[in-house]
Amino acid sequence: MRPLLIEDTTIRDGQQSLWATRMTIGDMLPILSKMDAVGYWAIEAWGGATFDTCLRFLDENPWERLRTIKKRCPNTPLAMLTRGQNLVGYRHYSKDVVDHFIRAAHRNGIDVFRVFDALNDIRNVIDSAEVIKDDKAHFEGAISYTMSPVHTLDSYLEYAQALKELGADSIAIKDMAGMLTPYRTERLVKALRDEVGLPVHVHCHYVGGMAPANYIKAAEAGAAIVDTASAPLAFGNSQPAVEMVVAAMRESAYDTGLDLDLLFEIAEYWDEVRKRNHYKRGVSSLIHMKVYSHQIPGGMMSNLVSQLEIQNAGDRLDDVIKEIPKVRAEVGFPPLVTPMSQIVGTQSVLNVLTGKRWSIVTKEMKDYLCGYYGKAPGPIDENVLKKIGINPADQLPPDVAPASLQTTTFDEIADEIGDLAHSEEDVLMYALFPEQARTFLSKHRTSESTPYLMEEESSQTKEEDYVDINQIRELIRVVNESGVGEVVVEEAGSKVTVRAKGEGYAAVPVAAAQAAAAPAPAPAPAAAPASNRPANWVPVTSPMVGTFYAAPAPDADPFVAVGDEVTAGQSLCIVEAMKLMNEITADQMGTVREVCVADGDPVEFGTVLFYLEPSPSPEPTTAQEA
Ligand code: CO
Repeated sequence: MRPLLIEDTTIRDGQQSLWATRMTIGDMLPILSKMDAVGYWAIEAWGGATFDTCLRFLDENPWERLRTIKKRCPNTPLAMLTRGQNLVGYRHYSKDVVDHFIRAAHRNGIDVFRVFDALNDIRNVIDSAEVIKDDKAHFEGAISYTMSPVHTLDSYLEYAQALKELGADSIAIKDMAGMLTPYRTERLVKALRDEVGLPVHVHCHYVGGMAPANYIKAAEAGAAIVDTASAPLAFGNSQPAVEMVVAAMRESAYDTGLDLDLLFEIAEYWDEVRKRNHYKRGVSSLIHMKVYSHQIPGGMMSNLVSQLEIQNAGDRLDDVIKEIPKVRAEVGFPPLVTPMSQIVGTQSVLNVLTGKRWSIVTKEMKDYLCGYYGKAPGPIDENVLKKIGINPADQLPPDVAPASLQTTTFDEIADEIGDLAHSEEDVLMYALFPEQARTFLSKHRTSESTPYLMEEESSQTKEEDYVDINQIRELIRVVNESGVGEVVVEEAGSKVTVRAKGEGYAAVPVAAAQAAAAPAPAPAPAAAPASNRPANWVPVTSPMVGTFYAAPAPDADPFVAVGDEVTAGQSLCIVEAMKLMNEITADQMGTVREVCVADGDPVEFGTVLFYLEPSPSPEPTTAQEA
């Protein structure tokens, strides 16, 4: 008998995959002690997107959540998912911050740390591994599983071996896209058992429905642990249901020994929560099952659909699905997991919507191509680098670990947040999500000392971004219609001024306005009425729906002003869309004659941003790549 061990993902991956990570601690409280009685190997309770959503949408202290879960589950180890050097954020943090974060997570209740890197670049895992081992917690090294010509069985074995050398206590196969098949699983698990020798933990997403079969093959091949969720939070983009796996393993050598009746009691509870909140069940739709053909993870697919809908381009989905494998191959086959799924997905959307591949490239994609996220799994297409204008000198030398560039220490961050932080946990919150943490901590200055309150105030989730843009639009309307010169709104630490300027308006963050002597962009003199514009002026239009920014950063000078001469490929502005900063560049040499929108303005597809007067002839000395 070699019972298969089960990790429960209901309150982390399950709800992240199906409920947009909106489950509150209030939803969990009544059922935690029953979950603790099941006999799971571990409960995945924290990490991934939960930290972010606690602060951003749920007005919940993520550390308090962890402590509360631990208190109710004293008998079951708690597990978390961490993104290596990114921890639970979206960028690299310094070794010092990683150190403090892991120790704090361990102290507050995490026993098992599953660490992955989106690119399987071991350098992004080293800092986490060192502190987890030093703090005597369980280090689970995870392989981001994907399929490509460069992702071979040998490449996975090599990576697992590197994890073992860092002291891994177990190896997880993280099949975030639901791409594993039963026989691939069998081969991989067997090879890992034979060659690496550590306990193997298989994490499958259900997606097209192959995961339960994978688990059976995994058990037969010697896997120790598999991940499941309670039925109402299973299936679809989530894990297989625990009830199904427990029943499947009965009367075999791998019998989990878990009590099905207790599991169904727990499932009844979650089904009530699901119905009360009108959350959908996990389903395997045709588009999700097509992962076997196009390899696009389900979560990424839903993002693409909503990105395209925002851009009024829902009918281009098929084109984008065809574009993704091309982009992925050109940039060295990164696994499509956060953040690479967003970076590759958005680039594909831009390539399709602009009609000119690689004409707009996000800052994140440039950083990736320059090596700042880690080493690309395969070679990057030289033509793409040329087209974007990335020279070898722009790229991080292969012997420099990207995280070594991060030097901000915990103490520096603690100084920055000052008295607002009352604990190390508060400082870490700020280190990872500065804006959200500042808002949260200002609101709950005594968060560390007050016990958890049972009444739920989080039913009105606040999606601040949307509120802000709508508020600004409303202000603009008020200013335009009333003839008032200026309206200032201050809320939750941010302050926005909407100022009438001639026939248009300017919405400028006040901080930026005070820093620059002449805040209102592009004084109107050159803005002649449309009919008077010389015929040779060419419009530069917005290729997408988003927000216009005149400068690369809030405190920086605008990219261009009226009268500036620009060369082809020079950045003119940023249009922020799909949570990424897209630099808009000049198509040709010329002079900026008019800036048509103000900093912070929402823009539509096709909105004219600038008028350029083209230069008469190209300079023979500049060798610009088309
Ligand atoms: Co997962």
